[in-house]
Amino acid sequence: METKLAYQSLEKIEADAVAVVLFENEPAPTELKFASSWLEELRASGEFSGKSDELAVLHQPQGIKAKRFVAVGGGTKENFDLRRATATAVRALKQKGVKKLAWWLNGGDPEAVAEGAIIGNFEPDQYKTANQGKSLEEFCAIAATNGREFDRAFERGCILAEAQNFTRSLVNEPANRLTPLILADRAKAMAREAGLEFEMLDQDRMRQLGMGSLLGVAQGSAEPPALIIVRYKPETAPKTSDHLGLVGKGVTFDTGGVSIKPADGMEKMKYDMAGGAAVLGAMKAIAKLKPDIAVTAFVPAVENMVGGKAQRPGDIVKSLNGKTVEVLNTDAEGRLILIDAITYAQRQGCTHLVDAATLTGAIVVALGHVNAGAFTNNEALLGKVMAAARSEGEKIWHMPLDDEYKDLLKSAFADLSNIGGRWGGAVSAAWFLREFVGDTPWVHLDIAGTAWLDDAKPYMAKGPTGICVRTFTKLALNW
Ligand code: BES
Ligand code: ZN
Ligand code: ZN
Repeated sequence: METKLAYQSLEKIEADAVAVVLFENEPAPTELKFASSWLEELRASGEFSGKSDELAVLHQPQGIKAKRFVAVGGGTKENFDLRRATATAVRALKQKGVKKLAWWLNGGDPEAVAEGAIIGNFEPDQYKTANQGKSLEEFCAIAATNGREFDRAFERGCILAEAQNFTRSLVNEPANRLTPLILADRAKAMAREAGLEFEMLDQDRMRQLGMGSLLGVAQGSAEPPALIIVRYKPETAPKTSDHLGLVGKGVTFDTGGVSIKPADGMEKMKYDMAGGAAVLGAMKAIAKLKPDIAVTAFVPAVENMVGGKAQRPGDIVKSLNGKTVEVLNTDAEGRLILIDAITYAQRQGCTHLVDAATLTGAIVVALGHVNAGAFTNNEALLGKVMAAARSEGEKIWHMPLDDEYKDLLKSAFADLSNIGGRWGGAVSAAWFLREFVGDTPWVHLDIAGTAWLDDAKPYMAKGPTGICVRTFTKLALNW
């Protein structure tokens, strides 16, 4: 889809449709005089009252050049979410065959509009050879007055949303088409195009280094593992010596291993690399938006399978940092690969760590599909992550990490067990990571409930959401 920002008056816009946001209990802007009787009729009939997700279409409007005039409900001004309203309108209008959509900004934030349009236009239908969903070909935001800040905000929104869609298409790849090595290739291609440094540690290198925890998970699969590393460095020496490490779980498929998962719904476990894909998407945006801080992404990529060499419950592995782990459940594999990546990130000089992982079913029990769970050993860093998430409309809820939960991970035969029992499962998983993080400021985001939509929303297609891409990028930009 082509996206642009133009400075024009409403009447002169040429498009299949021009959309305008209208609020509940608010009079329409005076510029819409040409449609006033239609709008009054709509409100009187109760067909359109300005509630969010509402849409009304007027064909052949008189007094403007566009073929259709579209009223988009914004809800109340206090709760208005322009990103969401744009995405909802795009999804509805592309279904009606609109190819070229103009959006009358009327003072709205061009960044949010760009994001909403691009995110709303995404369909995970890359493998449909027939009946592919309809999509917009051109989206044009219309502003009244010129401004460099406006242009830059629009451009930033496009970059963020395109990076998010890149992540969504990675997450949507089935495991036969996205093995750990293929994920590494995709990361490499992205890095080359974006001008970032790429490195991959292969199985031999990981053996030399002693990443026994990661390798234990990988050994059940015929597909070799990879530790994917992508580096961004500011062009001129940054003001800060901080170095942000983004770590993402990259399990390209999670069968559970010998502690195998039930067949029902297992197909969804292709999204167990959503954290890894999110940090790669963030790097793609970071390369273009150039924050003033060094950022390195680490994606431990493995397939959790049940081959003849698979690890067994009761196996004891030695992690890169030297601690031993008793693997009481092979399905708690995410934490096993993350700890070796975290130790490696620390050795690479990262001063702050943020990870994203589809880590536990327990976080879905706790928070459903609305909020991602956030765990931290450093309130200040969590504050930065929360602020970035809030500005991007991504929901995150602060979860506890009291010392008492740590005892859940005691093992009779090794330093730690990889599971903490039935209760508080998302917390013990986070504590497991924290045991390896030590004092480095760190935030862990458990995105098991928020990285995948089981049903389409008015503003987003079913499937991968691309959560964390925008938050991570903004975190680096705001640093
Ligand atoms: N990938 C899963 C977590 C998950 C569950 C992601 C549902 C998305 C949706 C993870 O590897 C896992 O299986 N965790 C286990 C941990 C348990 C064995 C302690 C879980 O949550 O059941
Ligand atoms: Zn698992
Ligand atoms: Zn998993």
